[in-house]
Amino acid sequence: MNLYGRDGECVELEQWIGDQHCQMVAILGMGGVGKTALVAFVAARMKHVFEFVFWRSLQNALPLEHFLKQCIQFVSDQQRLELPKEVDAQISILIHYLRNHRCLLVLDNFESVLQAGQRAGQYREGYAAYGKLLQRVGEAQQQSCLLLTSREKPKEVAHLEGKKSPVRSLHLSGLQREAGQHMLQDKGLFGSEEQWLALVERYSGNPLALQVVSEPIQEVFEGNIAQFLQEQAIAFGDINDLLDQQFHRLSEQEREIMYWLAIEREATSLEGLRENLVYPMSIGTQLEALASLRRRSLIETRGTAQFQFTLQPAIMEYVTTSLFQRASREFDTESPEVWVNFALSKAQAKDYVRESQVRLLLAPVAQRLLARLGKEGIEQKVRDMLTKQRRVHAQLPGYLVGNILNLLT
Ligand SMILES: Nc1ncnc2c1ncn2[C@@H]1O[C@H](COP(=O)(O)OP(=O)(O)OP(=O)(O)O)[C@@H](O)[C@H]1O
Ligand SMILES: [Mg+2]
Repeated sequence: MNLYGRDGECVELEQWIGDQHCQMVAILGMGGVGKTALVAFVAARMKHVFEFVFWRSLQNALPLEHFLKQCIQFVSDQQRLELPKEVDAQISILIHYLRNHRCLLVLDNFESVLQAGQRAGQYREGYAAYGKLLQRVGEAQQQSCLLLTSREKPKEVAHLEGKKSPVRSLHLSGLQREAGQHMLQDKGLFGSEEQWLALVERYSGNPLALQVVSEPIQEVFEGNIAQFLQEQAIAFGDINDLLDQQFHRLSEQEREIMYWLAIEREATSLEGLRENLVYPMSIGTQLEALASLRRRSLIETRGTAQFQFTLQPAIMEYVTTSLFQRASREFDTESPEVWVNFALSKAQAKDYVRESQVRLLLAPVAQRLLARLGKEGIEQKVRDMLTKQRRVHAQLPGYLVGNILNLLT
């Protein structure tokens, strides 16, 4: 992948991490601005400096104990498999290895363990120990580096950082006009330099937003930036506004795939997606929908031998929210489509995937319904819903029963 317009940031990071031996570096910025892309680029360039490079995404809110276990196994070359019970003692063991070996640890999407919508930098319930990890890795005498990306600054970083401190943060803003234009060079857009500037500025130079918006410019305005700018008056707040517009343009099949990718949480094969469907889709239709979603920059492909599909973190979050809002809205209506067609949590999923399905999908739905209907209200609605469905269907369709059982337990 080409990284446009980040030369300055790359040089700065290489100095901090390489020459100045910074112990903790936070890359901060809004969703889609390019934090992961930058870190992946720098980590690849600097991998010869380190004995071990360990990368984990916290997008599924990986519990700290799991992270520590996997990380210690890796940096100890599988020597250290048994760990003490207390988190503090586990962190001490990790620091022992960070002192003796030069390691690069990357924690991507750190905001997933921070509380959304709260005073910046507070931890989600059950995740406060991540703060301890940052504190201790930042303060201890050691030769490794913890590099994290986050949409919000963790408070430990704010406390420890400084020009002379081994803890730093880099705020990433959007791309400049030239870099944005370069990135979109093969998307078939055209316009004067001023029009390109206006386009890049309208989306604050956000690479994800620019990629996503380039498709409707091409499809609806035949690539004419000026015309798009004239007709599209809506201001860009954040990536969600843009995704809202794009989501409405999707076909039924495309939306269905997006929802399933949000449920799956991890990269999924064509086969895996097909197995989920309540009403089968022909392979042709499915491939067409996937190709169209790729054109719209809404999905990413992974893997070489067998293609796997997944969603960008910002898009995953948007689709997850959209799904749980729909589920709570449709719960007491005549046609609870989402409840029939999608599993809000999958019994067959890996443990930590199922945990995140519950945490990010099922629990928010349950909370909403509880607030709106109360426990008895929910039970009454469930009885009504099942009676109604039984009248129409010989057998209760799709995921309805499974979802309801999961909701009630
Ligand atoms: N400088 C760049 N040049 C080219 N493409 C870029 C650049 N920065 C980001 N991108 C692309 O833009 C998209 C979003 O970038 P990225 O995933 O790095 O965002 P992010 O800041 O990590 O977002 P999130 O907070 O949601 O994790 C990706 O498809 C990425 O490849
Ligand atoms: Mg990212």
